[in-house]
Amino acid sequence: TWTTAAFVEQAIREIRARVGDKRVLLALSGGVDSSTLAFLLHKAIGDQLTCVFIDQGFMRKYEPERLLKLFQEQFHIPVEYVNARERFISSLSGITDPEEKRRIIGREFIIAFEETSRRLGPFDYLAQGTLYPDVIESANTNVDPQTGERVAVKIKSHHNVGGLPKDLRFKLVEPLRKLFKDEVRKVGRSIGLPEEIVQRHPFPGPGLAIRIIGEITAERLNILRDADLIVRQEINQRGLYHDYWQAFAVLLPVRSVGVMGDQRTYAYPIVLRIITSEDGMTADWARVPYDVLEVISNRIVNEVKGVNRVVYDITSKPPGTIEWE
Ligand code: XMP
Repeated sequence: TWTTAAFVEQAIREIRARVGDKRVLLALSGGVDSSTLAFLLHKAIGDQLTCVFIDQGFMRKYEPERLLKLFQEQFHIPVEYVNARERFISSLSGITDPEEKRRIIGREFIIAFEETSRRLGPFDYLAQGTLYPDVIESANTNVDPQTGERVAVKIKSHHNVGGLPKDLRFKLVEPLRKLFKDEVRKVGRSIGLPEEIVQRHPFPGPGLAIRIIGEITAERLNILRDADLIVRQEINQRGLYHDYWQAFAVLLPVRSVGVMGDQRTYAYPIVLRIITSEDGMTADWARVPYDVLEVISNRIVNEVKGVNRVVYDITSKPPGTIEWE
């Protein structure tokens, strides 16, 4: 029978056998896969592992700080923090097309990743949080015709776009490749990852950048981050987090008229997107209790400057998609 303890032990043995005394690079994303991966690698090979966290500036409020704190203070795993916020936002200036945003974000991620690996390298291996379903899809790897080995051509969190340059096609260490997501969660929990990572809703690689419709600006990002935090706080506080597949805010680049006190306002609307789903392929809008919607709406309009209206998306998938871009 499969137990997390037996898995962890065997994974550590296999990592050591594969890597020997070579160096391994790992890109942390904040999700359960890369976090579990980092923990296993660190346990197996200690300082032969280099974890990098490339901060694009599109994560949710407090997430980058929490992730760094968790790894450095609780797990004592050093993380190379790369602050690429300025670079990402300026490369997206004036860009409104969703696929163009994804392409640019993917490209910038690869550039930042490449720079970091050249600066801290050389590395022989790239650790990837490939899961069993990814192995079957085989989307992020190629087989090297000379050695027959699986080599990385893309970074998992940015599967949509961008490839690694030829001379950075590392050999792979993929200790999670036989696991399904629920098994990774069990392993993650057993090694002490907090529930907020273990049970985190799916979060897209391009993050909040595809939840601001149209152009991304620093102001819009701040507004969305604050509104999004309120959605999560209220859903969490009522113990509803696990009832939904995803629950988030979207910022629309239009403005409408409102009134606050005796002042007329002219500000952005926030869309709440809260859905139930089995696998993300189809989804239904969640029948969130009215009083929860009411509190979320009141709090966002009162606490987030720049927002004067909250609307609820009641579109299923299909014909809608989960994200707005
Ligand atoms: P849609 O919007 O296509 O989303 O119904 C289905 C699932 O995929 C996630 N999603 C993404 N994940 N990069 C990602 O890593 C992306 O560009 C991306 N777009 C959508 C979405 O959050 C949902 O879980």
